Amino acid sequence: MRIGVFDSGVGGLTVVKSLLEHQLFEEIIYYGDTARVPYGIKDKNTIIRYSLEALEFFKNFDIDLLITACNTVSAYALDELKESAPFDVIGVVEPGILALENSVTDKSANILILGTNATINSRAYEKPLLSNQYCNITAKATGLFVPIVEEGLYTGEVLKSTMKYYFNNLDHPDAIILGCTHFPLISEAISGHFNGNCTLIHSGEAIVEYLEHHYNFNKKFKKTELKLFASENPEGLRKVAHQWLDL
Ligand code: DGL
Repeated sequence: MRIGVFDSGVGGLTVVKSLLEHQLFEEIIYYGDTARVPYGIKDKNTIIRYSLEALEFFKNFDIDLLITACNTVSAYALDELKESAPFDVIGVVEPGILALENSVTDKSANILILGTNATINSRAYEKPLLSNQYCNITAKATGLFVPIVEEGLYTGEVLKSTMKYYFNNLDHPDAIILGCTHFPLISEAISGHFNGNCTLIHSGEAIVEYLEHHYNFNKKFKKTELKLFASENPEGLRKVAHQWLDL
């Protein structure tokens, strides 16, 4: 089976990493819109327009399924993508919510949702969790983590002071939704800031769980062919992929 994976930039590679670890597909076509990242500070119409343009790219390939490995796109453009795509499209928000519900059964647990400005403003995680009676939710836009990850600053002072800035007045969370596909790269630092001891929800692991349950993708492939494309500087994307994915 050949699938497409779309993100605004390099962040979706964290989802690819999970897909590769679980050997679910024969071929993955990855497209990062590196010329126009970040999406998380853009408005709804722009995010939808960029996403539909990316869809045109994927129409050149005979894919069976498209995964939008970007929370911002999943929060704003999933319906439009589904309407226009000749193949199935899955986002990362619904799998993330299900993963949280599977691992945190206490409805009064302290849940912290992190994401880009756009994702947090959409309330895409918050609304379904509130309707499912989770009553102790804090949603925090932490967009500065995106360029920090793009710079490769996974540890160190810049990250530490940014975490302090964002997390200073927060209570210790029981669970953190990493509602941006860039954030798994700094998940250790984030959970370390809160002295560990909290459940982390990661879009890549959540989507694997979702695919295995909802699509019955249980067949394992010995090798997955990964093809990487970017709207700008594809060499840069390949370099990051080699580092992150140990290619
Ligand atoms: N990777 C994107 C997400 O999951 C965030 C990066 C951006 O702002 O484009 O929302």
